[in-house]
Formats: sequence, C-alpha cells, structure tokens
Amino acid sequence: MTLSLHQTGTPPLPAAPATAVVGLQWGDEGKGKVVDLLAAGHDAVVRYNGGANAGHTVVVNGERFALHLVPSGILYPGKTAVIGNGVVVDPEALVREIDALNQRGIDTSGLVLSSRAHVVMPYHKAEDELRETVTAGSPTYPARVVIGTTKRGIGPCYAEKSQRSTAVRVADLLRPDTLRERVEAACRLKKHLLADRAPETVDAAVIAERMIKCGQRLAPLVRDTTWLLHDLLAEGKRLLFEGGNATLLDVDHGTYPFVTSSSASALGIGPGTGVPPQRIGRIVGIMKAYSTRVGAGPMPTELLDETGNRIRERGREYGTTTGRPRRCGWLDLVAVRYAAAINGATELAVMLFDVLAGFDSLNVCTAYEIDGQRTDRFTPDGVDLARGRPVYQRLPGFGSEIGAARSLRDLPDQARKYLDFIAQYVRVPISIVSVGPDRAQTIVL
Ligand code: GDP
Ligand code: IMO
Ligand code: MG
Repeated sequence: MTLSLHQTGTPPLPAAPATAVVGLQWGDEGKGKVVDLLAAGHDAVVRYNGGANAGHTVVVNGERFALHLVPSGILYPGKTAVIGNGVVVDPEALVREIDALNQRGIDTSGLVLSSRAHVVMPYHKAEDELRETVTAGSPTYPARVVIGTTKRGIGPCYAEKSQRSTAVRVADLLRPDTLRERVEAACRLKKHLLADRAPETVDAAVIAERMIKCGQRLAPLVRDTTWLLHDLLAEGKRLLFEGGNATLLDVDHGTYPFVTSSSASALGIGPGTGVPPQRIGRIVGIMKAYSTRVGAGPMPTELLDETGNRIRERGREYGTTTGRPRRCGWLDLVAVRYAAAINGATELAVMLFDVLAGFDSLNVCTAYEIDGQRTDRFTPDGVDLARGRPVYQRLPGFGSEIGAARSLRDLPDQARKYLDFIAQYVRVPISIVSVGPDRAQTIVL
C-alpha cells in the first residue's frame, strides 16, 4: 500500500492571511467547489479577473448554483464577497445574477463591487460576436483566428480598458454626465464596425440611460475595494482569492492567441485587487484528473474517440456558462507542471477523480514530441503547441467507483498510485482529492 502522499502531505505553512484558488488547466477544473470548501476558513472571497465568462458551480445539500460574476463565497452567510478592480463587469448580468440568488434565498448583502472595475457594454458583446462568427475568415476581414469565446464581451472590454479614452468604469455609472459623454464617444467609434449588424448596441442615448439605471441599483455595493482589502488584512482577516478562467487561458502565460484577455493565473491577483504577492501564502492549484477545454486552440491530449466521449458523459462535461460540449482528453502533466510553476502552487487539488473509474488503463502525458524533438517543457505558444504530439505513460486503471471514498485508505491501490504519480511529476503535494460534485465528496489530506 502506498501512502507517500500522506507522508509528504501539505507542508505546514506560516499563518498566511490569504489563499488563492487557481485553475491549472483550461478552466472548469472545479474551482467553485474548492472555493466553497475553503470559504469556511476565510472572511472574504475575492474575484480578481475575468467576468461573466466564468461559470463556477457549487453544490450545497444537493442544490446546484452556477456563479458567473458573484464570488462563490456568497453562499456562506456572513462572508464578504468582493468583485475586484481587475474584473470586467456586465452590470445588467450582475443585477440578474444577484436577483436570481436572492430569489433562491441567498443573502447577497456581503457583496462589494470595485469602483474601478471596468464595465462591459452592449457594444463589447456585439464586437465579440462579430469577430467570432460573422466576419472571421471572410475575405474582407483580416482576422482568421476564431477563438471560440463565450461572447460575453470580455476581450473588447479589456481592449477598451487599455485604450482608456472611451472606457467606462463602475464609478462612472454613478456619474451620469461623464457616463453619457464616454458612451457617446465610444459609440461614435464603434458605429463603423457595428452600425449595420447591431445598431441597437451603438445607440448611445439608450445605452447610457440603461447603464445609469444599473448604476442606481448597484450604488450601495460600490467601494474602493483596494482599501477595503487592506483594512481587512490589517484587522487580521483572511482573504480567499477566486481565480476566474485558468492559467492556460491567461493572456500572457496561456496558449495565445487561444486565451482569454485577463491575467487568470495567481500572478493577476496584484493588479486585479491591489493586494501584494507576499500576502498570499497558500496557492491551491486546481486540476482535473484529466483534461478538458472549451473553445478553440491546441490541446495535445484531446481524445476524439469513444474514450473522449466516455469522459465527457461521465464528467458531464458541458459548459457552465455556454452549455457547449467540452473537449476531453487524458491528463496532460506537462501542461499542469508548467501551470503549477507559473502560479507558485503550494498544493494541488485533484478534482473529478471519480470520472476515471472503470478504465482498464489510464494514460498520462509526460512529454511532447514537437517536430521530432522530445520535450517535457510546455510551450504556451499556440502555434508551436499545435504541433505537439503527446508522449504517454500508461498507468493501471481502477475498476470500482470511488464516489463514497472519504480518505485515501478508501481508494483502490491503483487510484492512489495515480495520485502519487501526479504529485511526484508536478513536484507539488496534493491536499484535496474530489470524488464527486457534492461538498461531502471530498478527501482532505
Ligand atoms: P469551475 O469553473 O472551475 O468552478 O468549474 P465548473 O463549475 O465550470 O465545472 C466543474 C464541474 O464539475 C461542475 O459541474 C461541478 O459540479 C463538477 N464537479 C466538481 N468536482 C467534481 C468531482 O469531484 N466529481 C464530479 N463528478 N464532478 C465534480
Ligand atoms: P471558468 O472560470 C472554460 C475560454 C473560452 C474561449 C476562451 C476565450 O468557468 O473556468 P472569452 O469569452 O474569455 O474571451 O473566451 O477562453 N474560457 C473558458 N473556458 N472555463 C472558463 O472559465 C473560461 N473562461 C474563458 O471558451 O476558448
Ligand atoms: Mg467553469
């Protein structure tokens, strides 16, 4: 019997005021479930990047919640839930999400929204749609890269943030004159692109009034969240950062150009919240026991066969935000080790392990062959990675279902060996093993 995981375990960490939960693959690793688990030991849960492109699932007492903009910690009564300055906020989507939570009896009075978060406008969503579906690859439109975005306006909003002069921040929703001016200027520019296809999205007067209405509704939530977080730290409160999207979708460190538009790794916490890195002592890297990806872009271990379909069906691998079937494949440890390094992961949470029960053997990718050269170094260059062929190590499968396991000892030997292999390859200890969507279906090491 192998118990080396137990022996290596989670190293004792100094009492660090902040923990980060970050995806190590292409998203949907189960961050929502882990945030929910860890929220109990923290005072505030903080989103620092992305927007309504994220879809984080939490299952509480059999009831399923899908959160997009609101931090998953909101499901714990009494927690502060912060939407940080690095998030891009669609105000209408946020109001709908708050209303839907309230209708289900969830108290959202702990929710706080950064005055400096940028606002996703109707024209951002229209441009996202236009780039992706209408014009991509057409003779008159030069961009031939279709990313397979969530069409939530994320890319165009972050682009506007960098452009500055026509950007709208949450604080501007509370300043009608400034807001009208900005929206008017933005629409004048966007009309060239959108007037024919989506004229309602560049109707400045109508949009400004819609946004002013949202501003009135959201005003009580709006704060300088940077000072709030520093005040909480000074009071000895514990913060939990909830990464949206994931490391391999990070705009700098992911498989560019097939990425999202924000710093989705733990490196984004500083710019996205104003909290400096040395405050974050615990960085939990969330990984599935296999690989999935939604949208376009290279995925060396993708399985386009019956095995891939079996993983998709067992794991219910359909997007939380868009409902799209997720691409499925074997575990890519080359990618995970890279992502763990980028984040400085201090521990790993291996999720959806139950999905792998019943396979005779399990392949894990330990190297790539690119142009005849073997390497175990991940390249995030989307074009180079597309030529990567996986080199697999075959590990024995485990026959029985493991959804009822609550300790390592409850797992079959072969399942423990699979976990050992991961921890040794990535060189980061495993602290959580998840064997089902429910909060209770968790092994904490
Ligand atoms: P996130 O975006 O990282 O929060 O992940 P998603 O919520 O988009 O997708 C993860 C899915 O897997 C959700 O439907 C979860 O309820 C589910 N899930 C989480 N952990 C487990 C697990 O250990 N086993 C199974 N079978 N499902 C899980
Ligand atoms: P969570 O937080 C899975 C993917 C999209 C697309 C690319 C760019 O639930 O793990 P965008 O709309 O951001 O411009 O899309 O990134 N993507 C995600 N895939 N989970 C996510 O979030 C994602 N957020 C973005 O599918 O390929
Ligand atoms: Mg998700």
